[in-house]
Amino acid sequence: MSTTHQQPTPMDIRPARIEDAAGVAKLLDQLGYDRTVEMVRRAIRASASDPESTILVAFMADKQIAGCLQMVFTRRLAEGDRGEIASLVVDADRRGKGVGARLVQAAVDRLRAQGVANLRVRCNVKRERAHRFYERCGFRRAKTQTVFDRPLSPGEWPSTTD
Ligand SMILES: CC(C)(COP(=O)(O)OP(=O)(O)OC[C@H]1O[C@@H](n2cnc3c(N)ncnc32)[C@H](O)[C@@H]1OP(=O)(O)O)[C@@H](O)C(=O)NCCC(=O)NCCS
Repeated sequence: MSTTHQQPTPMDIRPARIEDAAGVAKLLDQLGYDRTVEMVRRAIRASASDPESTILVAFMADKQIAGCLQMVFTRRLAEGDRGEIASLVVDADRRGKGVGARLVQAAVDRLRAQGVANLRVRCNVKRERAHRFYERCGFRRAKTQTVFDRPLSPGEWPSTTD
């Protein structure tokens, strides 16, 4: 009896490296964020030396970046300490193949190993498929909020996609 359809898609997940910047920038563009390759390069460099931020990238057999996830550690006076998924996106051509679930599991494994007890993700109300995805990954709806921004110097308002 063949069990091929039950096998998980072969995938490699590791922390992002500088050379992943172009692939990650492409993914962020799909998420609705216009980040240049140089901006992403800087973010990957900063994250690599920040124990409270990890950017993970997932590769499938063709060695192309299939998805990325940034997790951060947040320390809030009222809510306490927790991990938070700051960004998660899977390439539009590779969605529905388990990449997102594997990235979330990798984040969970890493946070557990660090003794972190809770993980949160904030997801735009319009991303209904992503809500179902998170519920299937073991998350539960906690609350709905309105997000306010205020630029601190004259200039463009920050992106509000998520
Ligand atoms: C949400 C997302 C990260 C899930 O990753 P994935 O690799 O597609 O997910 P998996 O294969 O592990 O799980 C499949 C589930 O993901 C969700 N999903 C699948 N394709 C999707 C798509 N094109 N858009 C949004 N969610 C999708 C669905 O819940 C799907 O289950 P369903 O097919 O029964 O509806 C990915 O689809 C994505 O990048 N979506 C667009 C960006 C986004 O919404 N990111 C989350 C921001 S908080």
